[in-house]
Amino acid sequence: MTLETPPAARTCRLCGGSVSEIFDFGRQPVSNAFVKAEDTGREAFHHLAVGICSSCSMVQLSDELPREAMFHEDYPYRSSESALMRQHFEAFAGNLVRTELTGPDPFVVEIGCNDGIMLKTVSDHGVRHLGVDPSRGAAEAAAAKGIDVRVDFFEESVAREIRQAHGRADVIFSANTFSHISYIDSIFRGIDELLADDGLFVFEDRYLGDIVEKNYFDQIYDEHFYLFSLHSVRAMVERFGFELVDAQRLAVHGGAVRYSVARPGARKPGTALPRLFAHERDLGLNDRVKLARFGVNIRRIRHDLVALLTELKGKGFRVAGYGATSKSATVLNYCGIGTDLVECVYDSTPEKQGRLTPGSHLPVVAPERFAEDYPDYVVLFAWNHAEEILAKEQAFTAQGGRWILYVPDVHVLGGGGLAAAA
Ligand code: SAH
Ligand code: TMP
Ligand code: ZN
Repeated sequence: MTLETPPAARTCRLCGGSVSEIFDFGRQPVSNAFVKAEDTGREAFHHLAVGICSSCSMVQLSDELPREAMFHEDYPYRSSESALMRQHFEAFAGNLVRTELTGPDPFVVEIGCNDGIMLKTVSDHGVRHLGVDPSRGAAEAAAAKGIDVRVDFFEESVAREIRQAHGRADVIFSANTFSHISYIDSIFRGIDELLADDGLFVFEDRYLGDIVEKNYFDQIYDEHFYLFSLHSVRAMVERFGFELVDAQRLAVHGGAVRYSVARPGARKPGTALPRLFAHERDLGLNDRVKLARFGVNIRRIRHDLVALLTELKGKGFRVAGYGATSKSATVLNYCGIGTDLVECVYDSTPEKQGRLTPGSHLPVVAPERFAEDYPDYVVLFAWNHAEEILAKEQAFTAQGGRWILYVPDVHVLGGGGLAAAA
């Protein structure tokens, strides 16, 4: 099955400007479609390429998948698998309750609440809230924590219904979801409908600056339809009649930015904004030459990773993976890595275990089984959780096991000898 839309003229999904290509990854499976062994013949593929709009500078994918092909009742991602992310959202929500939700009966809406990682804290404080998420399995995990959820794609009509049922929201929040939504015009009309006059819309997402600077090419996959920068976000929010009033860089997921958006004039702009914009101009994020260098780096990483894995295999070493991330779909499929080079991937998500990684078909195995038969090397696909995973798997490293990282370049952690990258 093929999910791609016809390769029509690439026009910007936001402003209609012309999009020039940055990089083409070729044929890719749906990044979170972990497949049962008996279903491997029925996988859906699409074409993954990324480009930048010459008018509004939004970096975006060329092909748009039907949203139901990505987000449905079996969507396996569970935000709460990471202790670091649990702490991150607990801290954010606690702060929100103290600073923004101080009125008589505040109301918070979250777009893409997943398993309730953020709203859990809001709910524990007794604050009125509603999470909206179309992935039923994840939403049910949130409901099991006592969180109010609506299983739906947030869009204009849903926002109107929420407003009719619950009134306006003081805060609308969204993390690592806004970039997943190509139909952003309907979302902004919904936010306009739902947000209180002096309300705040806060969203956080991976930052293009970190992606380009650190070669995080695996952040590019079907769900990340937009890759945001401050410039493109400002153009986007202004296009829909809002104002970007603050931004804060975050270390999570390899580098993200939390954007605060309000109705024009409703909030005093934060003092950090000019510095962040200046930094972005220095980085040259709108510069074609800089982006072309990113493409050269991606090709080099593919070459070095495949060469290293092939060399290890030739020397009789066993190699596994850790973290069956959506990011790994881009790495494995773009590099053409299968079970010939990486025998399996360990991952703590029960919904992924027992299945195969999309397109590349590596078995996903529970981390409890890792110690039963340690491989010699492990490719850390969940590099954004390195600290947490390396701490958990200290025993592997202590007995001589080595970790392979492929960003910002291919390198090996632990031990000596063959450790230098190919
Ligand atoms: N906020 C969490 C989850 C991110 S995963 C975190 O930061 O970890 C992205 C989530 O967005 C998925 O659970 C997916 O089902 C949801 N999603 C995708 N499109 C959506 C839409 N239109 N409205 C609400 N949620 C959406
Ligand atoms: P993410 O990078 O998109 O957050 O995905 C991380 C994946 O790694 C997710 O499938 C859960 C898995 N994981 C583990 O297996 N062990 C861990 O300790 C952590 C933090 C994540
Ligand atoms: Zn544009």
